[in-house]
Amino acid sequence: MIKAAVITVSDKGSQGLREDLSGPLAIKLLEEISIKVVKYLILPDERDQISTTLKILCDNNEANLIITTGGTGLAPRDITPEATLDILERQAPGIAEVIRLKSLEKTPKAMLSRAVAGIRKSTLIINLPGSPKAVQESLEVILPVLPQAIEILTSTSFEH
Ligand code: MTE
Repeated sequence: MIKAAVITVSDKGSQGLREDLSGPLAIKLLEEISIKVVKYLILPDERDQISTTLKILCDNNEANLIITTGGTGLAPRDITPEATLDILERQAPGIAEVIRLKSLEKTPKAMLSRAVAGIRKSTLIINLPGSPKAVQESLEVILPVLPQAIEILTSTSFEH
């Protein structure tokens, strides 16, 4: 069973000033393909808080997949990609590239997402943009490949 964490990054969401629709949508879409979401957090756009949380989830093997949503754009406080890169051991650029590429078919603003993806220990971390629409459109692209990707990542055998 794949264990996942969903982290919404939003100053307003973390203060209870805005209802988070994106995190629950990501949870729903993951659970539809039998990925169990064991943790759901809303964090402010604070680099250290985001990176420390990601690091703990990976190092304690609490989740083999972490989906973040929000904080990937150009606004001054958007810092999720940098916080993610702070703790990644290996990048998986193809995931972020294909999300941006397919998203460009929906909106030219897809180019404004600076999202990254990569690996720390046996956890795959993927940034998504913040809107529910972007979560839906991004997950549609990558969900078919995720179970196999995580199986490879967590496999102890070398026979890939
Ligand atoms: N990608 C998809 N598929 N659909 C969208 O609606 N919105 C874009 C982009 N990526 C969008 C998308 C917009 S408007 C922005 S500003 C950037 O993601 C960054 O979003 P974020 O700052 O909420 O992370």
